[in-house]
Amino acid sequence: MSVDHPVTMNLAERPAPEVAAHLLATRPSLHRAGEKAINLRIQADALQWIAANVTSGMRTLETGCGYTSVTLVACGAHHTAVSPIAGEHQAVLDKCNELGLLTDQLKFVCEGSETALPRQDPTPLDFVLVDGSHAFPWPFLDWFYTAPRLAIGGHVMVDDTHLRTGATLRSFLVGESAHWELVAELKRTAVFRKLDEDVVNPSWTGQPWGARVIKRRWLRRLWWR
Ligand SMILES: C[S@@+](CC[C@H](N)C(=O)[O-])C[C@H]1O[C@@H](n2cnc3c(N)ncnc32)[C@H](O)[C@@H]1O
Repeated sequence: MSVDHPVTMNLAERPAPEVAAHLLATRPSLHRAGEKAINLRIQADALQWIAANVTSGMRTLETGCGYTSVTLVACGAHHTAVSPIAGEHQAVLDKCNELGLLTDQLKFVCEGSETALPRQDPTPLDFVLVDGSHAFPWPFLDWFYTAPRLAIGGHVMVDDTHLRTGATLRSFLVGESAHWELVAELKRTAVFRKLDEDVVNPSWTGQPWGARVIKRRWLRRLWWR
């Protein structure tokens, strides 16, 4: 994969993997900490997974925005980015314009996912990226409000599995193997395919992950009593 494009090169007709490679090589700072431009991008392997697997016309949603938004635009997705910082949206739009990528299929919802997602129309999705706030319980809320919308066969990407919240969501979905298939285990990211509609089960006894932990705690208590 070539990464030596000049910054101003028009990548509009180039495949998404080249746009991802270009971003990774040029390292633009698309995020904001107050007035300061910073770079909080996803790991390279996750960005490359998106570029290789999301295809034109897919309905996609991410919490947060940045390199992933630009790459999803390059994939030709009908993409929604839910994140609260308008300056980051402008930086993404500027980068798309600079690369000659059309943004008519890109929509920003400028609000925290915790309030925006429950109010959205439950339109179907083919791909969801959970990469907004990593504080408890945000990744779980992001999953909870988007999992029912994901089409069977669609994918959810859980980022930052090295953090406790991401690790817990990953662990839960691994335990739910009747409903989710782990299809990619990347450096700090896990990708799951949705297998059926029964993904948000209100009964904890029907969730192997939760039931298993309780059982182990009981055994430990009995052992040390
Ligand atoms: C790790 S960065 C996302 C990186 C991005 N996926 C990329 O590859 O460049 C986290 C993002 O979450 C956004 N964010 C912070 N709080 C949020 C919230 N409550 N809801 C949604 N997004 C939030 C931040 O503004 C930032 O854009």
